[in-house]
Amino acid sequence: MKVGFFDSGVGGLCILNAFRKLCPDVETEYIADSKNCPYGNKPAEEIIRLSEANVKRLLKRGCEMIVVACNTATAAAIDSLRAKYPQVPFVGLEPAIKPAALRSKTGVVGVLATAGTFHGRLYNETKAKFAKNVTVLAVQADEFVTEVEKARVPGSIAVDSRRLQSAAVEKMVRRRIEPLLKAEADKIVLGCTHFPHLKPIIEKVCAGRAEVIDPSDAVARQAKRVLEGLK
Ligand code: DGL
Repeated sequence: MKVGFFDSGVGGLCILNAFRKLCPDVETEYIADSKNCPYGNKPAEEIIRLSEANVKRLLKRGCEMIVVACNTATAAAIDSLRAKYPQVPFVGLEPAIKPAALRSKTGVVGVLATAGTFHGRLYNETKAKFAKNVTVLAVQADEFVTEVEKARVPGSIAVDSRRLQSAAVEKMVRRRIEPLLKAEADKIVLGCTHFPHLKPIIEKVCAGRAEVIDPSDAVARQAKRVLEGLK
């Protein structure tokens, strides 16, 4: 069975790569919709339209299960995708607030994501359910998405990670992370799939003061479970 992945660009590659490590024999397809990136500040109706177009292409390529490897697209579109394609199993993403809230010792958690994700039902329900006793600092970091897309290798879906190690990128990351550290956040959730590409530099800025929570492996494990349930 072939599994399809899509994202507004190269962000979802973090999920794809984690999945390939777990399931090296499963055939995969990936759509990086970079020409419409970013999704983060688009109205929900537009994200639904773009997500449906991506799903259509993946189904045409023979995919029978789809991972929405994008928090923003999940927030806006997963309900309508499930309604439109009831025969297709979908796996989506939402910021990992639950593990962050459970593991935080300071009671302060930072979440980095896009506006679309923060406005979505999933994020707000999860926050209300699992983060009642912690302070959640929501940080919109749209410029991280732009920077990661700039590091895309032309003509391929690879990311040149060396381009994400410059002093300018570090300065951009510091601007968003330092206020969180000052506010004593000890967990920082990567709530956008573009952000794991910046994990080394985010960890450098955190310098051990906060744990960076990247959900890629957990999502890959969930996708594997769903896939095995279909066999
Ligand atoms: N990678 C997407 C996510 O996980 C968003 C990037 C964008 O704004 O397009 O939310």
